[in-house]
Amino acid sequence: MENQRKIRTTGSEPVANDHGPSTMRAVMYRRYGGPDVLEFLETAKPEPGPGKVLVRVGAAGLDRGTWHLMAGEPRAVRLAVGMRAPRNPVPGIDFAGEVVAVGAGVVGFAAGDRVLGVAAGSFAECVLADARKVVQLPEGITWEQAAALPTSGATALQALQKAGALGTGTRMLVTGASGGVGSFVVQLAKLHGAHVSAECSAHKTDFVASLGADVVYDRAGGGAFSGDAAYDVVIDIAGNPSIATLRRILATDGRAVIVGAEVPGPSLTGMNRQMRAVLVSPFLRQSLSMLVSVNKKQDLTGLVELMSAGKLESRIDKTFRLGEAREAMEYLVAGSVCGKVVLVP
Ligand SMILES: NC(=O)c1ccc[n+]([C@@H]2O[C@H](COP(=O)([O-])OP(=O)(O)OC[C@H]3O[C@@H](n4cnc5c(N)ncnc54)[C@H](OP(=O)(O)O)[C@@H]3O)[C@@H](O)[C@H]2O)c1
Repeated sequence: MENQRKIRTTGSEPVANDHGPSTMRAVMYRRYGGPDVLEFLETAKPEPGPGKVLVRVGAAGLDRGTWHLMAGEPRAVRLAVGMRAPRNPVPGIDFAGEVVAVGAGVVGFAAGDRVLGVAAGSFAECVLADARKVVQLPEGITWEQAAALPTSGATALQALQKAGALGTGTRMLVTGASGGVGSFVVQLAKLHGAHVSAECSAHKTDFVASLGADVVYDRAGGGAFSGDAAYDVVIDIAGNPSIATLRRILATDGRAVIVGAEVPGPSLTGMNRQMRAVLVSPFLRQSLSMLVSVNKKQDLTGLVELMSAGKLESRIDKTFRLGEAREAMEYLVAGSVCGKVVLVP
């Protein structure tokens, strides 16, 4: 990173900068760690090679996956992104913005197109994306709304697909309902007609009710897990309930999909509970499964259609400037977020 000039590490005002067309400002990190590893630097602007589109970022979405990559936790993520240090020094996955150039062989995109998608390194003024992971963004959807959608929206959609058929009156519980994934799960489940119970912190109950949840439990009270609940479906996004606890609140033929939960301290995979669930499930009448979401263009296209039709919303809690990436990350990790956080240049 010798060629990168430090601009500043924090602050809310736009930075005066005279970079030419071959450079851009980007959030960067050279080592794994907490939010203090993030710096705001000037670096080379990428060039679009074959199959790639170069996008001027209008907004970039922040999600827990980006935190995991920054922290290098659980350790297994380093196998994919660099054992000693991150191979790609620019964090961020989700983006929305305007195409500025396309590489050879790209069809369906041209300079000036409004797009959204996923690509490594979205916390920058420009991001290079694989054209297969980008979709057109209709007028009327803001950069912020669009940038908050790809990872959390697709994870929510795939969790519900994995849970199987949802219909009118399906009794469902969503843990971690106030977060990025949860806020989309609740909205999508309501579109299917499910009866949604949701769990979150006490001060976020109004927010979760506003997503459409029929019953909202304060997670401190343990209400969602007490009594004789018998949910047809549990989408388990946070809180780490044990397998026994999940089984106790499921109907005899209920289905639980474990999406995640933060495991305190270093861990190898962070997925022990998920793996135990998958191992015991074949011996049960109940179904326990885990989700590993993948970016599929058709999922994103479907989500954008729902958003365009006014049926789905990214609920943006707070918008930070790129130069405030540390503060944004701290805000996410503190568990303060209702819905999503986005960064804008
Ligand atoms: N399987 C996959 O493919 C996949 C994909 C994306 C994300 N994930 C995982 O899914 C989880 C949620 O992601 P996200 O992006 O929605 O995160 P997020 O936006 O940070 O939301 C998570 C929510 O969980 C709640 N929470 C935090 N600590 C908790 C605890 N100890 N007990 C109960 N609830 C707690 C918080 O809300 P309250 O304060 O309201 O409780 C928080 O807002 C993460 O672990 C992430 O790594 C998995």
